Amino acid sequence: MAKNLVIVGAQWGDEGKGKIVDILTDSADVVVRFQGGNNAGHTVIVGEEKFIFHLLPSGILHPGKTCVIGDGVVVDPEVLLGEIEVLKKRGIFRPQDLLISKNAHLIMPYHKRLDVARERLRGANKIGTTGRGIGPAYEDKAARCGIRCGDLLNEADFRAKLKQNLLEKNHYIKTVFHEAGFEIHEIYHDYMRFAAIMEPFIENTSKFLDTAMRSGKNILFEGAQGTLLDVDHGTYPYVTSSNTMAGAASTGSGIGPSRIDAVIGVTKAYSTRVGEGPFPTELKGDEADRLREQGCEYGATTGRPRRCGWFDAVAAGYAARVNGMDGLVITKLDVLDNLDKLQICTAYRLDGKLIDDFPTDSNILSRCEPVYEEFDGWRRSSKGAKSFDDLPKGARAYIKRLAELTGVEPYIISVGANRKEAIILKDPFK
Ligand code: IMP
Repeated sequence: MAKNLVIVGAQWGDEGKGKIVDILTDSADVVVRFQGGNNAGHTVIVGEEKFIFHLLPSGILHPGKTCVIGDGVVVDPEVLLGEIEVLKKRGIFRPQDLLISKNAHLIMPYHKRLDVARERLRGANKIGTTGRGIGPAYEDKAARCGIRCGDLLNEADFRAKLKQNLLEKNHYIKTVFHEAGFEIHEIYHDYMRFAAIMEPFIENTSKFLDTAMRSGKNILFEGAQGTLLDVDHGTYPYVTSSNTMAGAASTGSGIGPSRIDAVIGVTKAYSTRVGEGPFPTELKGDEADRLREQGCEYGATTGRPRRCGWFDAVAAGYAARVNGMDGLVITKLDVLDNLDKLQICTAYRLDGKLIDDFPTDSNILSRCEPVYEEFDGWRRSSKGAKSFDDLPKGARAYIKRLAELTGVEPYIISVGANRKEAIILKDPFK
């Protein structure tokens, strides 16, 4: 039976979703991105080659699978065309495999300028955005003055919308940030050049997905960022500007929620976060450095060192609840191979009381202290493991406890960066 699966991050992004999507794409016919933009960075390693995608669905490495950039995505055309160019040079790109929703909003040069300038203005209260214009693009969408991919197909319309936007944006940029504004003709010419290349890909993707579902195709919805960065359910205001959780697969691609068959959450065997905001299990000093080096925890988009910490079962349990998770994927277990002791956070202490429900109020969360359960390290490589029983005994106990605490069945355990280094306990497409 055909299936529609949603994959989401269960933490603050960077959980290794790219690799999991890449594995599951073998069984999918269509891969869809439904939110976010090029703030994402999906790293996929195939053999000796490393690919980092920011905008294209990771499924693009699989010829013959249709990759859809859905309605809820914000598209920076320059980045998109850059990624297509890289794939073309490697002889991997097939134009017939890519579709872009005409409803997806465009990231414009003023969005990027505003993102960076506003962060500067926030000073110590900055969010630590990726500076890619994501927030300002979603703001314009909500303010109903955004320009969409479909607008690229109508020159006069595009120009009129751009003119209207620049009237406001230039005034704002000049008076609030004391920076130079934008000239309409520069943006117009650049975007018309992008339009000529993008035109064949721009489509009614909701309709395409409906037809694909009706003809029995398997569809994989690939989330970007993570649940705790969700604009409504994350650690607001230290979040991204889109809904990152499973429900967004429906609104962000124009399919009904009843069409989703299963939700898979991806979590690292420990925790990381980039940018600002509360992070209860964060480690400092040597312990953090060890995890960062072992796990190569540097942002795929900005290169920033990631903040590292222990696995937080309170946060993961919350992510399981708000996403309605059916299965759990645990990545980077091998990063923990050489530790003497490990900790899992099972509750928070807040004002002397124990709580096990994740507070989304950043002020409250920043006052929460983690309560830990300690585990002996297994000090043996988990890398070659092909089955659960191949894993070191301590690693098995650790995974079992993660599953128990989150209440979600583990489907896949990843023990290395390569596509092959994964233990499939349950194939969600079967
Ligand atoms: P923005 O999405 O660029 O507005 O950034 C808002 C917050 O989300 C910042 O803390 C970013 O570091 C974080 N963020 C955005 N995209 C990702 C991602 O793909 N992985 C991890 N963090 C992200």
